[in-house]
Amino acid sequence: MKVLVIGGGGRCHAIVDALGRSPRVTKIWCAPGNAGIARQAECVPLRDTDVEGLLAFARREGADLTVVGPESALAAGIVDAFRAAGLRIFGPTQAAARIETSKRFAKELMLRYAVPTAAYRVFSDYGEAADYVRSQPLPAVLKYDGLAAGKGVVIARTPGEADAALRDMLLDDRFGHGQVVVEEFMEGPEFSLMCFVAGRRVVPMALAQDHKRAYDGDRGPNTGGMGACSPLPFITPEEERWAVEHVMQPVADALADEGCPFTGVLYGGLMRTRDGIRVVEFNARFGDPETEVVLPRLESDFFEACMAVAEGREPGPLRWRDEATLGIVLASEGYPGPCEKGAEIRGAEDTGALVYHMGTALRDGRLVTAGGRVLIVVGRGATLAEARDRALEAAGRIGCDRLFYRRDIGAQALGGKKLLPLRETD
Ligand code: AMP
Ligand code: GLY
Repeated sequence: MKVLVIGGGGRCHAIVDALGRSPRVTKIWCAPGNAGIARQAECVPLRDTDVEGLLAFARREGADLTVVGPESALAAGIVDAFRAAGLRIFGPTQAAARIETSKRFAKELMLRYAVPTAAYRVFSDYGEAADYVRSQPLPAVLKYDGLAAGKGVVIARTPGEADAALRDMLLDDRFGHGQVVVEEFMEGPEFSLMCFVAGRRVVPMALAQDHKRAYDGDRGPNTGGMGACSPLPFITPEEERWAVEHVMQPVADALADEGCPFTGVLYGGLMRTRDGIRVVEFNARFGDPETEVVLPRLESDFFEACMAVAEGREPGPLRWRDEATLGIVLASEGYPGPCEKGAEIRGAEDTGALVYHMGTALRDGRLVTAGGRVLIVVGRGATLAEARDRALEAAGRIGCDRLFYRRDIGAQALGGKKLLPLRETD
């Protein structure tokens, strides 16, 4: 079987790696891929939103399956285009992907189908939004309605911060013209529940936790994710079952009822609050960096699971290795702000751990940094503590003085830290 993977970060590297373990997969292309992926797949210089180009490529080369990584490709309608052309593709249609691409759509669906989430109001007028926010307790949770690369959420702790954010979102059109969802503030530990979904069939994957803040102790700016770990001892099997039954299954059913059945990975960003488990957000794809710690634990054939979903069949049951994984992201100095690229990286091949490339390139045969997040080093062990120690040791072996990383990934799961919410601002 020949598989085309769309995307080029650490998540796609983990997807390519997992596909490569399947005895049925004989060829993997990745568009556009990166320097690390190039060792395990043939990279194709096509952008992930170049629907026409990707479709022409898949047709010409006879790809048996296409697996979509990033939301940008989903939002561009890649699944609709491939399906219309009769090609097998793993991912939701543009209409089903609204569960991620439109915060308003997601909120209205949850309200209609009684899926537990924070109370909310939607505004497009700056004055009305500002009046409403002033009448509510702080902190205020403000979410731009649309794709904003994870940067469209502001947790404002002062009236000044709230006003600045509303101006940014509704007056200055920083992300384009849109609406703002104002939400009730929730508190509690967060966790990610990714499920394979084929219409009404929902098969959960192992739980994982992302670490969004840039620095140790959950300080600093919000990022695309600085590390992840799996499993999560602080979530009980009963809580996990509850989340599948009361959140993931009802949403899959709701999307089917609304005429846009979901196929692909439905990602629940969940929080255990005092009042029970609540939805923070949904994504319509594999999480990043959760995928980098979850897929290495999958014992079942990943290709078979993706193929089943793409054909509308049940992908389960899935078997998971009884081991822990913990991934540490090495990011360029300055990330998530502007950062320098092109710094040489040494020793990424022999760390003794799994290393997935997030933003790297080859220059004159040498590996160099090519993005904000550069590598993720994944340690595995019988326990999370062992996985963490291995990941830290491996991260320390990578030679590059322009990279930084967090040393406390997994602190909450390891129980070394009170189960405080991961805060947006200090
Ligand atoms: P989102 O893009 O919706 O996942 O939001 C990004 C981050 O903001 C989440 O991972 C949470 O840490 C935080 N967050 C979002 N919504 C809320 C909320 N209603 N209450 C508290 N924190 C939130
Ligand atoms: N880890 C959060 C995301 O993938 O959006």
